[in-house]
Amino acid sequence: MSEPKREIHLAGFMIAGPVVHSHALWRHPLTTRPFTDPRLYVEVAQTLENGLFDFLFFADRLGVSSQLNGGRDLSFRYGAQDAARLDPLPIVSFLAAATTRLGLGVTRSTTYYQPNHIVRSFTTLDHLTAGRGAWNVVTSMNDSEGRIFGHAQHMEHDQRYDRADEFMEVAFKLWRSWDPDALVQDKATGIFADPARIRSVAHHGAFFDVEGPMNMPPGPTGHPVIIQAGSSGRGRRFGARWAEAIFTINRTIEEARAFRDDVRRQAVAYGRAPDSSRILTAIMPFIGRTEAEAIAKRDEHNALARPELGIATLSSQLNFDFGPFALETEISRLADDPALPDAVREKLRTTGEPGMTLGALGQIWASSVRVPQLAGTGAQIAATMAAWFEAGACDGFVISPAYLPGSFTEFVAEIVPELQHLGLYRTRYTGQTLREHLGLPAVAAAQR
Ligand SMILES: Cc1cc2nc3c(=O)[nH]c(=O)nc-3n(C[C@H](O)[C@H](O)[C@H](O)COP(=O)(O)O)c2cc1C
Repeated sequence: MSEPKREIHLAGFMIAGPVVHSHALWRHPLTTRPFTDPRLYVEVAQTLENGLFDFLFFADRLGVSSQLNGGRDLSFRYGAQDAARLDPLPIVSFLAAATTRLGLGVTRSTTYYQPNHIVRSFTTLDHLTAGRGAWNVVTSMNDSEGRIFGHAQHMEHDQRYDRADEFMEVAFKLWRSWDPDALVQDKATGIFADPARIRSVAHHGAFFDVEGPMNMPPGPTGHPVIIQAGSSGRGRRFGARWAEAIFTINRTIEEARAFRDDVRRQAVAYGRAPDSSRILTAIMPFIGRTEAEAIAKRDEHNALARPELGIATLSSQLNFDFGPFALETEISRLADDPALPDAVREKLRTTGEPGMTLGALGQIWASSVRVPQLAGTGAQIAATMAAWFEAGACDGFVISPAYLPGSFTEFVAEIVPELQHLGLYRTRYTGQTLREHLGLPAVAAAQR
């Protein structure tokens, strides 16, 4: 039997706030609605469903960072990535009723929630959507997120992942505590559920003491699709063990292929198939009738993104205050400074070009948080995507918008037909659940 043809998978990337990776998004002239208007999310979801996307995804952060210069004024004044966010979980529950096939993914943190929060919310979403839900598992980023939950500091990096591993073990014990056929609901006999098919959970570990079972029947797919986006060695190991979809940001095909090869290798070390997760790399398209028009669109967009907002987001993401350093400072000098935390130096080393200043890095962060910006005609961008995909650099793409909902509307109108023409993208949905869209087994092998 011949191998099924590999097809590009697509996700739309959103934050339910003023800014996504583009810090110009909320003020861009083509953004038509504020982030508080529910119609924005309906328009985005229905556009992506028309474009046969696998899923729409919402990132999340839990507090307003005060990293930059120890304050929040700049973030609030200009609208940083952290300045305001709606909770995406109610939003996707709302979108469940406005869509029929589109997968719906949401970030939730293992550091500040309990397994039962996740299990209850995402099992409910699984029922509401008939199997279209996904959970992006993160460990959160900074002290502000810790403080709003009553902790003086954010937990240390590797310890967060140790907690996350145990969190997943508990969550899966709860998800598995009901057999799929435990709910009987036989009106004639009066039998509601079969207690023999519902098992008690008693988990006592380093981070969690949890007794179960869960208090609802499992959804049609048993548990949400598990997404992850770790980039450190520890984060990648976690993703290799648990994830069914992985987000990544890479500047070049070579960098992306090395990442994908590494994750596939590590999955095997956990006894999983190398292709047990779909690796989606982020891009921000600017589409024009000509390449020159697209480049002008990109440049106009980037001129609206303030470098100091990029520095605010970088400070928030790395939990480190870049405020004391002048924008003219070369980042290689910071990367060599032993007074800076190792993780910050490592990020600067792997991020900057030679001679790049902090201000230039801030401009890149404000424009796209280093998500590659692709400017061209629909055919040109589709050809670039095809080249990445066919080189084994990714299994698909997560599309980050520069303005809303236009970036997605244009993508669906101009790029989707080109990808279909190349034979690399579906022409209709053939499945109902998100796992079916992603071409993954109905029950993931991830959670042993
Ligand atoms: C595309 C993408 C989306 C992400 N979404 C979130 C998010 O919603 N919330 C969050 O706290 N972290 C998010 N992250 C951060 C990752 O979870 C992770 O912490 C980061 O890549 C650093 O890797 P590490 O945790 O292995 O050090 C995202 C990362 C990427 C690349």
